[in-house]
Amino acid sequence: MADMEPTADGPSPLELQAGVHQLCGCGRSKHGWFCDGAHLGSGRVSYELRLQEPASVVMCGCGRSRRYPLCDGSHTVPKQQPWWPWGQR
Ligand code: FES
Repeated sequence: MADMEPTADGPSPLELQAGVHQLCGCGRSKHGWFCDGAHLGSGRVSYELRLQEPASVVMCGCGRSRRYPLCDGSHTVPKQQPWWPWGQR
C-alpha cells in the first residue's frame, strides 16, 4: 500500500509490489496515490499500472504532468506567464 503521500510541489518516489495498481488520477482520493473511487462524477478516471515485478515509480506532485499521476518532468519547466501585463500600466 502507500508508503508516501502526494506532495504539493514535486516528484515523489513510490515503492510498489508486483501486480495491478489503480492509482488516483483526480487528486480526490483519501488513500494517497491509490484510487478510492472518489473520481466518480469528476470526469477523470483512475490510472491502471501493471507491474511484473516490484518497482519504484515516480509520482507527480505538481499536477502538471501529461502522464498524471506519474511524473513526466514537467515540474522542471517554468510556468508560463500570461502575455498581457496586468497591473503594468
Ligand atoms: S512532479 Fe509533476 S511533472 Fe514531475
